[in-house]
Amino acid sequence: MTSMTGIAEVLSVLLLLLLFKVCLFMQNWTDSRNLVRLQYIYRLWFHPLARYPGPLLARASRIWSASAARKLRKAQAVQDAHQRYGPVVRIAPDELSFADPSTLKAIYGHGSRLPKTEFYTGGKFTEVDNVFSMRDIHQHSGRRAVMAPVFSHRFVASYVPAMYEKLSQTFNMMATLSANGTKPVDVYHWVHNFALDVVFHFTLNHESGTLKTGKPHAVIRDLEDFQSVFAWTALFPPLRNLGRFVPIQAVKRPFISLHKWIHFCLDIVARERTTDMKASFVSRLLENEDAYLERKLNDLEVAEELIGIMFAGSGTAANTISFLIWAVLENPPIREKLVAELERQVPPGIIPMYEVVNKLPYLNAVIMETLRRWPTIPGLQPRRVVGKELVVGDYIIPAGTVVGCQNYTVHLDPVTFPEPEIFDPERWLQPDTSAQHAAFNGFGTGPRACIGRNLALIELQLFTAAFFLRFDARVADTLEEKDMELTDGFSGGPAGKSLPLYLVERSKT
Ligand code: HEM
Repeated sequence: MTSMTGIAEVLSVLLLLLLFKVCLFMQNWTDSRNLVRLQYIYRLWFHPLARYPGPLLARASRIWSASAARKLRKAQAVQDAHQRYGPVVRIAPDELSFADPSTLKAIYGHGSRLPKTEFYTGGKFTEVDNVFSMRDIHQHSGRRAVMAPVFSHRFVASYVPAMYEKLSQTFNMMATLSANGTKPVDVYHWVHNFALDVVFHFTLNHESGTLKTGKPHAVIRDLEDFQSVFAWTALFPPLRNLGRFVPIQAVKRPFISLHKWIHFCLDIVARERTTDMKASFVSRLLENEDAYLERKLNDLEVAEELIGIMFAGSGTAANTISFLIWAVLENPPIREKLVAELERQVPPGIIPMYEVVNKLPYLNAVIMETLRRWPTIPGLQPRRVVGKELVVGDYIIPAGTVVGCQNYTVHLDPVTFPEPEIFDPERWLQPDTSAQHAAFNGFGTGPRACIGRNLALIELQLFTAAFFLRFDARVADTLEEKDMELTDGFSGGPAGKSLPLYLVERSKT
């Protein structure tokens, strides 16, 4: 009997404990729900940014922004929000987007010194940072000073003869594949091969062979996977080191590719350290001291820069060229004017000289208009207000806020660019184009602006001139308007990832 009572006592204590646990659980549960509700209330009505308009979901949470980014349509969603809510829009609880081109300087200019946000840490490929991913402004200026000489106009121009050869190889391949205009050629694919091959050779001093064989070099093939590395590590930073061990093929594959890449680049750096060839990109990087580190870069730091450059410098240029060719072909009067200028100014020969194309007004207006209309970094380049408040026009923005002014919006500003959706190179040929240039942000503004601009412009000028001099091209009927819509996966390009064209060599017409 006593033992029965004992058991009953133990059971009731256990039951009480269980009830207590259930109560605690319920309380925590309702507490956390209440906390979330309180957080929403705070963000919507009491947050320092509460007075700024924006979509309700964006003001309360990050869901709005994340969902648009997942669909690769964040730049368009932000632009739609500006059209609905005005020039300053709250696109996340702590983030403001500005639409007026006059705000570019305040946010990105040399005077503002706003650091990049955590978003950019996904842009590094090893455990060390590269010039693109660095957030600390002193660390960045030390590295930028090391890199600047190899992107100077002088250094890049010395690479032009190699680019002539790559253009010939690309066009010969496309001409063969088009069989005198009887078969469509995917020019998007070839432009990407070209741009990758250029940046590969320019930085690594190593031939990829892609343009000779038509088959991408093994490591080049993997470069497409870097977009996934960027996306995965932005979500789960530890994946940078552990990703290749995850037992899911779709996750592990890009990290394995990256691992191969790192070793490929490290071997190249080691080779360049021992060679007496002192003019290459890598050897120049090895020569200069980083003032922030107070020493020269080690092999891993140089390899990280090489991978970063390869990533930043290939798709951007290739997508711009793809948009340009398509836009010109879709606008016959523009094409006639461009070809007339080229025929008038460029001496006969297969590849036009850089010194000539650099000075052609209409060609360069077509390039500027493409960079404006289809900016291949379309969305926000986010910066954080730190230390003190930031003054942007009439607005005083509290420290801690993320701010940005996206190209997709400033480039469609109807005051600076009337009928902004229309592709019209004449905008860049007006007697006074200072307002247009002030609103142009295709290569960024200030200390974090594109370091590869000189190389990109030479590629654009030479490719465009040589293409329209060599081919009479026609867009294949299979290409639909929606295929050329601009996506926004930070770096943007045509949604269909294809540009099928029939190409007839003009000398043969
Ligand atoms: C049409 C072609 C290109 C466009 C439109 C473009 C655009 C841009 C933009 C807008 C930025 C600023 C990004 C930000 O702050 O978030 C940037 C940065 C950068 N770009 Fe480019 N780019 C192009 C080609 C290239 C090329 C060819 C290279 C190298 C070979 C390159 C290397 C870089 C690097 C390393 C940065 C980071 C600079 C820094 O933070 O100091 N880009 N680019």
